[in-house]
Amino acid sequence: MEPPSGPPPSPVAGPPGQPAAEPAGEVSSGSKRIALFGDIHANLEALEAVLADAEEQGCNDYICLGDVVGYNADPGACLEKVRAMNCPVVKGNHDEDASGNHSLESMNPVAATALEWTREHLTEEQRTWLRRLRMVRQIEDFTVVHSTLDQPSNWNYVTNRFDAMSNFSYQFTQVCFHGHTHVPRVYVKDGKVQEVPAESVAIEPGSKYFINVGSVGQPRDGDWRGCYAIYDLEHKLVVFRRIEYDIETTQRKIREADLPPMLAERLADGR
Ligand SMILES: [Fe+2]
Repeated sequence: MEPPSGPPPSPVAGPPGQPAAEPAGEVSSGSKRIALFGDIHANLEALEAVLADAEEQGCNDYICLGDVVGYNADPGACLEKVRAMNCPVVKGNHDEDASGNHSLESMNPVAATALEWTREHLTEEQRTWLRRLRMVRQIEDFTVVHSTLDQPSNWNYVTNRFDAMSNFSYQFTQVCFHGHTHVPRVYVKDGKVQEVPAESVAIEPGSKYFINVGSVGQPRDGDWRGCYAIYDLEHKLVVFRRIEYDIETTQRKIREADLPPMLAERLADGR
């Protein structure tokens, strides 16, 4: 992987006093089709279905956009699956909350309950792996972050083009992929900033792109199927994929784990 030229990459944030360089993960040099997936949220069935589809689609590299854990019932299994891939992973807010010991009182009660449960069901070693994930990575000639580049650790939500403008001020690569809202969205800066449909997106010279790849394990755009994106570097094309998975098994595991039942219900609604 060649270091990118041009302006310096966005700052890489890590926990105070700890090295931010681990766990790193790499993509292979000369990579052509990269699967970008995130907001897995401990949904093992969705993760396995998405990864199987990515392989069928000829992806030869993988990048995880964070929130490996939280909400659903398979945090350890999802973490180990992602870790074994040795791919770049950036930290999500649930990864941070699950790996810390701070109070979750200010959170939405359902998310907080699930995070307390997640803390108890990860090993200390797994929590350390999550804690040491980087906030931002620059890979090939693009950037990845869980939320936004302007203040990655503030976990800002981008839900309209005005939110996207703040990010573009800190985006020094043509393309940046992110997640966090669980809704696939594409913002293009070409003089002005506009949102375009999250379908097939051609990366055109002279424009910048801030692309939300949606959520593998808890989509919130009304479509229950797992979502991810493929970046074809050779053809400069980003394609979104929606993948069916064994949702009944995921819901059963949530109920058997005594997690809040609405976490199982919302999966079917894609909310
Ligand atoms: Fe998330």
